[in-house]
Amino acid sequence: MLADLRESWWIGAVEIPTRVVLAPMAGVSVQAFRRQGRRFGAGLVCSEMVSCAGIEHRNERTLGYLRVARDEHPLAIQIFGSDPAVMGEAARLVEAAGADIVDINFGCPVRKVTKTGAGATLLEDADHACRIVDAVARAVSLPVSVKMRRGLENGSRACLEVGPRLVGAGAQTLTLHPRSARQMYTGTADHSLTAELVELVDVPVIASGDIVSRAKAQAVLATTGAAAVMVGRAAQGNPWALREIAAGEAGEPSREEVAAELILFVRETERELGERRAASFLKKFYGWYLGRGRFPKPFKQELVQLQTTDEVVDRLLAAAPAAAGLVERLEAELPDPEDEIVLDSMPISIYGGG
Ligand SMILES: Cc1cc2nc3c(=O)[nH]c(=O)nc-3n(C[C@H](O)[C@H](O)[C@H](O)COP(=O)(O)O)c2cc1C
Repeated sequence: MLADLRESWWIGAVEIPTRVVLAPMAGVSVQAFRRQGRRFGAGLVCSEMVSCAGIEHRNERTLGYLRVARDEHPLAIQIFGSDPAVMGEAARLVEAAGADIVDINFGCPVRKVTKTGAGATLLEDADHACRIVDAVARAVSLPVSVKMRRGLENGSRACLEVGPRLVGAGAQTLTLHPRSARQMYTGTADHSLTAELVELVDVPVIASGDIVSRAKAQAVLATTGAAAVMVGRAAQGNPWALREIAAGEAGEPSREEVAAELILFVRETERELGERRAASFLKKFYGWYLGRGRFPKPFKQELVQLQTTDEVVDRLLAAAPAAAGLVERLEAELPDPEDEIVLDSMPISIYGGG
């Protein structure tokens, strides 16, 4: 039987309205991405990984990642680090910032992170990984979830040993991206491991890796028994993929719709990061939005060359004038951008970005 992707499920006491989760992605999962994900059918959205050391030192840019808007909920904020006490403290701030779930990263394969004893390396040290989960679970009243890879080396099955122990230490959900850290993003995600993990634990498991369509999502749910699927790269510049996966509403968006979503994304990101940081951050999104045959290649290249976000918006409106009305309508539907939780103790302004 096919799973109903629009059915709700629970992580602890938090109700997740659909079985589609938007993946945490460093350099991608800004607030605009998460809000858009919720609008297009993701039942849960996640921040990118946030350094617990950065939180401990009240690093301005790091604290900027803890900004939570009203229409993001339910939202998981993901933290990474290797010191249980510092992770516990960071989790407390995540709770104060208004997140619904604290997610712990035991999957990052990048050397800069693993060499500090954080991310995927913790899959090789189950005792230490459990100490981190225990410290975080004790620090907050929110549910704690953990995101893992299969292990460090190709063929590793470490996740099946560590996963149940993490649940014993307090994890209320496990997300598995069944590639090894060594694999990075090559090869395919081996969801037979996801099925094995589901058998071993009595908490919901989220299946991450290569979910690119509704058909794939339903096949993975059916063959693994996972509670939900997580969508990452397929949603980059393509919220319509979330709609197709969650609701079965297929069909390419019109040029006007694409331009309107991109303009809104640009405006919101500018507000979050400040114009200068946003201008360079956004460049990779132009190709993602305008590709897939939606706009001619030279047009994408032209946008990337532009210096300011205002120029980008003007150029998009010139190419798709009817997008202006759509943007207006979308903006009218969104909550006031100032209506967000900002920690009193944060040494940042709402618009600062850092
Ligand atoms: C650009 C990029 C950044 C990522 N950053 C994170 C991260 O910060 N935290 C994390 O747990 N996973 C991160 N991931 C992994 C994704 O969450 C996801 O597990 C992986 O991309 C597989 O799913 P997909 O095939 O749907 O993309 C990242 C992936 C990509 C492509």
